[in-house]
Formats: sequence, C-alpha cells, structure tokens
Amino acid sequence: MSIVLPIDNLAKPHFTALPPLALYVHIPWCVRKCPYCDFNSHEARGDVPEEAYVDALMKDLESALPSVWGRKVVSVFIGGGTPSLFSAAAIDRLIAGIRARLPLTPGAEITLEANPGTFERQKFADFFAAGVNRLSLGIQSFDPAQLRVLGRVHDDDEARRAAEAALMIFGNVNFDLMYGLPKQTVEGAQADLAAALAFAPPHLSFYHLTLEPNTLFHRNPPPLPDEDTAADIEGAVHATLAHAGYAHYETSAYAKPGRACQHNLNYWQFGDYLGIGAGAHAKLSFADRIVRQVRWKQPKQYLAKLADGQPLQEEIVVSRDDIGFEFMLNALRLADGVASSLFVERTGYPLALVGRAMEEATRRGLLTADPARLQPTELGRRFQNDLLELFLPERRGPRTTVSPLLQVEATGVTR
Ligand SMILES: C[S@@+](CC[C@H](N)C(=O)[O-])C[C@H]1O[C@@H](n2cnc3c(N)ncnc32)[C@H](O)[C@@H]1O
Ligand code: SF4
Repeated sequence: MSIVLPIDNLAKPHFTALPPLALYVHIPWCVRKCPYCDFNSHEARGDVPEEAYVDALMKDLESALPSVWGRKVVSVFIGGGTPSLFSAAAIDRLIAGIRARLPLTPGAEITLEANPGTFERQKFADFFAAGVNRLSLGIQSFDPAQLRVLGRVHDDDEARRAAEAALMIFGNVNFDLMYGLPKQTVEGAQADLAAALAFAPPHLSFYHLTLEPNTLFHRNPPPLPDEDTAADIEGAVHATLAHAGYAHYETSAYAKPGRACQHNLNYWQFGDYLGIGAGAHAKLSFADRIVRQVRWKQPKQYLAKLADGQPLQEEIVVSRDDIGFEFMLNALRLADGVASSLFVERTGYPLALVGRAMEEATRRGLLTADPARLQPTELGRRFQNDLLELFLPERRGPRTTVSPLLQVEATGVTR
C-alpha cells in the first residue's frame, strides 16, 4: 500500500465535528505519600481545605467554560491523589456544581478514586447518592506483607471490606492492582490475583510497579523481581484474567463485557478533555486547532494563581508535526485499535500524515495490514515502544521521554 502525502499546505487541522468531551477533576491530597508514587499528590497535614478547594474548582471551571461552550460532557473522573479523603458533602457540592455549569449526557459515567484507608460504608453510600456511579479502588495488593512494603495506609482486611462495600453500593467498580512487587514470585502474584478475582470486580487495572524518579523507591530501590520473573508474572496474570472472562482491552486495563472505562476510552480514542484542579491536563479541539493545557501543580500555587485569574501554567497549540504521534500514543494502547477514519475525525488531518510510518509498521509486523483499522498486532503490543517510535516526528529523531504536556498523570490514567 502506497500513500501519497498531499499535506504540505495543510498547516492547520480542519474539523467537521468536534470530538466527545470529558471532564477530569484533580484532588491533590493523600493521607500519606506512598514511596513508589510520583503522581501530583501531597500528604495532607491536618484537615484538607476542601471548602476552599471546591470553590476554586468551580472558579476554574467557570473560567474554562468559554472554551467548551455548547458541548456536552460524556464522562467525569474525579482522581488524585485521594478524592475519597474529601467528605461526601464536598463531593456532592462538586458534582452539583459541575452539573449546574456543564451539561452532562444522560447516564454519564462519574468515577471517583478511593483509597481503602479512607473507607467508611456510609461515606461510600453518600458518594453514590451524590452522583458517583463508578468507584475506582486503589487496592494494589491483598497481601498484608506487600501492603506494608508499599507503605499503604490500609491493610488487607480494610481492602476486603472496602471492596465488598464498593461492589454492593456502586456495582461498577475498578480495582487498581500492581504486580512485579518487591520479592514477588509467580505463585505470590497468582495468589494475589485470586484474592482479587474472588470479588469478581467488573474492571481491573493491572500496573507493573515502576521506579519513578523523585520517589523514595527510586532513591532506595526495593528488591524487585528480575526481568524474567516479571515477564512470567505478566504472562500468568494475562492467562488467568482471560480465563476469568476479562478482555485485556488496553495496555493495563481488563474489563468484563460492557464494563470498559468510558472516561479512559475517550482519552485513548483521542477525545477531548477539560482538566480542572492542581496540575490537571486538558486537550481541547477548536475548528482550526488543538490545544493542550496544564494547570499549576502545587496546590497552594494553584489556589493563589486561580485567585489571580491565572489557572494555566502552560498552554500550547499542538503542531502538525506532533499530532500523528500523539494520536498513535493513545490509540495504539487499545488492543482493538481504532477505525482508521477516527484519525481524520480526531486530528483534523488526513491519514496520509502518518502514511509512511503506517507502511513501515505494517512491514515490520507491528501493525495489522487491515487498512480500515489502526490496530497493533500481538508483536506491536509487546514492543509498543518500537511501534510508537515509528510515528515520532522526523525532525527530532527518536524521543525516549514524552513532553510534560503529553504525560497522562493528571488525567486519571496511569502509564
Ligand atoms: C493516582 S492513584 C489513585 C488511587 C489512590 N490514590 C490509591 O492509591 O489508593 C492511581 C494508581 O496508580 C498506580 N500507581 C501509582 N504509582 C505507580 C507506580 N510507580 N507504578 C505502577 N503503578 C503505580 C496505583 O495502582 C494507583 O492506585
Ligand atoms: S498511590 Fe494513591 S494514595 Fe499513594 S501517594 Fe499516590 S495517589 Fe496517594
């Protein structure tokens, strides 16, 4: 397949319709900072200023409204940090405030991230009454020894009680779990997974523990399993989850039929998202451009800048050179990929923009040969970095790190 590149004079994208719009809300506090975590989360010393913060979020949202006039919001994700640290009254005010300012589509998914260490049955019930219809529980592991090593504020008993209550109250629940934990064996990982599967959660996010710069684990690394053991754990996890009826629909996400996370799917399908709160990221399309924004990261700084009417730390217009890579960085995380037509719909450019890279990826067996889809092969999923590198803008050559504006941290998605 040979694709001609009639794009040299296309400096700007052209949209016939704008993508679906989601809303991300960042709550930047936790009971305690976990030693492996590089999210924009800060230990809450004393009471969290939830009243002032919800006021700020409303102000932030109002200042952003002109950029999304007339658009409906398809999903809301309240992430962190630990949003469940906030009282149910604060979450109620937040959701009511969002609804009063932005139209939500009927039945829009509203997810809240919760830490089992902040679990109270009545609080979960009140979150549900406030409009949260999906709970994402940061369980990490059901192994009490691992939870201690991971510096978690909860034990396995609390994790079990939170899981049980979440499933009873919300039904639509995700467990965040990690593997490749200190000294973990394949048998240990299988036992941990079995403990999670005993609850039959509709959705599981399974993250390989990574040593992130600026964390305690990076400075003082725990004894992690070697590469072969980590690969064996991953293989065993995949097989067990497939056998239990979970589709491995994205790099780290597994879902029972019909239970994929709508909010995250919108990121991966290169939809738009507004992000409010400290350090939140946004990607917004207009008739002739796509814009990325980052809000001030430190909670204090965010509150002060917002009071001055300056919530944005950075805003850039995505260039034609970067757009192909940015689209692929998201879409190729999906096992089924996306329809090729989505590239035009979501980037505003012809598919020819990535024609050469597609040809090369197909030739190397990393992308399926079906021209109607942009879909990674098994090999492409295993060697995702090699596949993505082909879509990097030529002017810069291979890029090993992703610009802060591309990082997914403050959008509720983990690598
Ligand atoms: C922002 S946290 C939200 C959950 C909540 N704060 C909690 O931990 O209970 C999202 C998830 O990212 C994952 N995560 C954080 N740091 C990680 C790391 N270094 N490697 C792999 N996964 C990580 C954890 O599974 C965590 O639950
Ligand atoms: S993993 Fe969750 S609870 Fe721990 S510091 Fe990060 S955001 Fe906070």
